[in-house]
Amino acid sequence: MPPLLEKAGKWVKEYGAIAPSSHFLAREMVRPISWRQVRLAVEFGAGSGVITREALQRLSPEGRLVVFEINPQACERLRRLGDPRLTVVNDRAEHAAQHLKGKMADCIISGVPIANLFSDKEFYGFMRAVHRHLKPDGVFVQFQYFLVSYWRLRRLFSDIEVRFSFLNIPPAFVYVCREAGALLH
Ligand SMILES: C[S@@+](CC[C@H](N)C(=O)[O-])C[C@H]1O[C@@H](n2cnc3c(N)ncnc32)[C@H](O)[C@@H]1O
Repeated sequence: MPPLLEKAGKWVKEYGAIAPSSHFLAREMVRPISWRQVRLAVEFGAGSGVITREALQRLSPEGRLVVFEINPQACERLRRLGDPRLTVVNDRAEHAAQHLKGKMADCIISGVPIANLFSDKEFYGFMRAVHRHLKPDGVFVQFQYFLVSYWRLRRLFSDIEVRFSFLNIPPAFVYVCREAGALLH
């Protein structure tokens, strides 16, 4: 198999994507957040850590970033970043409550492939974890390669801005979601 295809195959298997997120997409993911005010940031599905690194560059010295990632190898690589503000949890986003113990985040960033959460049970299971830990004035930022989850998210947040990052493989949409509604309360 040609090395490029082999590499892409490895990514699909490990991360549910054909390539790691680009720096352009990573910057688009962290841009909507007022980092100076962030005391707790949470990332779901950090994968290669490209968004994690962008977030850490902007996070204040007093800020904390807690990352949930199901892939143990990816967790090992993230831990090697060696940043004292970073906590890496090798567990599903859906289990965040067990680790965050009631702490609320100013922002939640996610690369979890929510298009794969086909059933309502899976989708709402994930979104409940977002809602449970997002401050009422917090922001949830999620990327997706197609706009397939727009209407599902629209039912949960009254304010959604959609941005587009062309410079990614494949190009990706970024949902910037605010004002979680009653459905999740
Ligand atoms: C598209 S990839 C990562 C995107 C990341 N920005 C990158 O460039 O690698 C999605 C990641 O979400 C992780 N993941 C999938 N479902 C998850 C879940 N329920 N909770 C936490 N992580 C999850 C996968 O292991 C994978 O690393």
